Amino acid sequence: MTAHSTYADFYRQSIDHRDTFWSEQAKLIDWKTPPQQVCDYSNPPFAKWFVGGTTNLCHNAVDRHLATRASQAALVAISTETDTERSYSFAELHAEVQRMAAVLRSLGVKKGDRVLIYMPMIAEAAFAMLACVRIGALHSVVFGGFASGSLASRIEDAEPVAVVSADAGSRGGKVVPYKPLLDEAIALSKHKPAAVLMVNRGLAPMHLQPGRDHEWAPLREQHLHTVVPCEWVESTHPSYTLYTSGTTGKPKGVQRDTGGYTVALAASMKHIFDAKPGETYFATSDIGWVVGHSYIIYGPLIAGMTTIMYEGLPTRPDAGVWWSIVEKYRVTHMFSAPTAVRVLKKQDPAYLAQYNVKSLKALWLAGEPLDEPTAQWISDALQVPIIDNYWQTETGWPILTLANGVEKQTTRFGSPGKAMYGYGVKLIDEATGEELTGPNQKGVVAIEGPLPPGCMQTVWRDDARFVNTYWKSIPGRLIYSTFDWGIRDADGYHFILGRTDDVINVAGHRLGTREIEESIASHPNIAEVAVVGVADSLKGQVAMAFAVVRDSSGLTDDAARLKLEGEVMKQVDHQLGAVARPSRVYFVTVLPKTRSGKLLRRALQAVAERRDPGDLTTMEDPAALQQVKDLVG
Ligand code: PRX
Repeated sequence: MTAHSTYADFYRQSIDHRDTFWSEQAKLIDWKTPPQQVCDYSNPPFAKWFVGGTTNLCHNAVDRHLATRASQAALVAISTETDTERSYSFAELHAEVQRMAAVLRSLGVKKGDRVLIYMPMIAEAAFAMLACVRIGALHSVVFGGFASGSLASRIEDAEPVAVVSADAGSRGGKVVPYKPLLDEAIALSKHKPAAVLMVNRGLAPMHLQPGRDHEWAPLREQHLHTVVPCEWVESTHPSYTLYTSGTTGKPKGVQRDTGGYTVALAASMKHIFDAKPGETYFATSDIGWVVGHSYIIYGPLIAGMTTIMYEGLPTRPDAGVWWSIVEKYRVTHMFSAPTAVRVLKKQDPAYLAQYNVKSLKALWLAGEPLDEPTAQWISDALQVPIIDNYWQTETGWPILTLANGVEKQTTRFGSPGKAMYGYGVKLIDEATGEELTGPNQKGVVAIEGPLPPGCMQTVWRDDARFVNTYWKSIPGRLIYSTFDWGIRDADGYHFILGRTDDVINVAGHRLGTREIEESIASHPNIAEVAVVGVADSLKGQVAMAFAVVRDSSGLTDDAARLKLEGEVMKQVDHQLGAVARPSRVYFVTVLPKTRSGKLLRRALQAVAERRDPGDLTTMEDPAALQQVKDLVG
């Protein structure tokens, strides 16, 4: 038991006695050499956690449990796409990870090298991630739903020595071949990986390029018994990079350390998730997103839990499939996104009632705002606490939620909860940079440095971008901006009110509107385009594009407009992936701009959402918004 009687005490301790607090948390993991210094913040905003310590993320997730739970299920890979289910004990996972590590080594991967992982939700993806950190290589997982253009820009930035991929993914019964997308991405990228390792699921034919491409199965056979010990790395050694969208078209590689991340996840499993070894965690996200990194792979395994990896839709074969998994595996912790719940809410509630979900302690939801009706519906249906949690790819673990492992607190629907231990969460007046201390004042959600362990170290190979993007956006202060608006009530519960920048959130997927704009603008007949996020009752937001065509002579009727719209959408699908496809592409003759040429994004978005666009005195051509109004109806 901790000495803290309340969460308020626990939180204060984490802020006022930072080093004592985190040195206590550091005991939750195994160190080869214990840290000499808890936090080195001598060069703000760069924080170094657990300096002098050496550890290994894979050791803490896998090897460490062999003594006590070797035969317990560690990973259960379920696919309703291929109708397969396979469970790996900690001992089996340990063996598979070593095989993968041995194969990666044989392909030339060394400590510090990057390995890009472009894979569907199959067990081999987990082996690959764990194998990388085992040998001190950095993984960079790219979401399988991204297409060749997105993949190419990430290959170019990460400069991986090797790529691990699979013949195909599958979605809703439709096979999505990955290899052609990967080949195209490598062709587009200036950097060429030396080796490509392909898992053959037998779903789609693959052309292997001699010398570069290798199949996993025969190489695995060669290394069935190869022992690959964990490489002990400095706490500050990067464990991975994960790309995320921002305001520019170029995605940012969020770089994470090893020791801080391992401690942060171990602490979150205890204090936030109240998790015990031997329990079962089912996060429905994807390894391509941060939730997949922290709460499908690393967090549950570090805690000695069984983790479930799921490939498939929440509604196939029917809307009861997730609850059948909960019943079958006695899932104690479930983690999903509000959109998925909204999808299920549209289905017959009888699907849920069929299964026994009493094993669940709670359902955590994150990634986008959780609206009250959705929270209420799932709360009534499951009869377990519904816990909203707010965080970002950059932070790796929740910023705002409830720490039920420290003190049970009541959920307030509509609020992700309170500031988590370690996070100096502030609300800042955007214009003045002043802190807003009173209740219910709207400000930018910001975090006082140092960011706690587990948060991003920097932007991969771009320290200046890290400082300028995140720490310099608020006038006169060096403080981390989340780029979200928020308010806090008198009891410390926060409410998130949307992004301050051009990032949109479609079905819990974070997308940059600039990337979509760049893709659309590369169509030969598009002169200029603006993409905005528009409220959607199912997906939270959808992307909507307003484009000015170069030559409008052919656009004489609806059929011609629909044809061009279809072409543009296809182009986005091909370059970025269907996740980024706008819901509509409208053609206009002019975009709403100020006299100095700045796009009036918020006005455009307001009109697209049929809201009042506000003050338009700076607008160059008032007719621009009228066109938008007429189009969206
Ligand atoms: O705008 C916030 C929104 O998603 C952004 C971060 O997305 P991503 O980097 O993909 O990380 C997701 C990790 C769960 C945030 O800046 N967001 C995330 N969670 C919530 C949220 N908005 C409202 N409520 C949430 N619980």
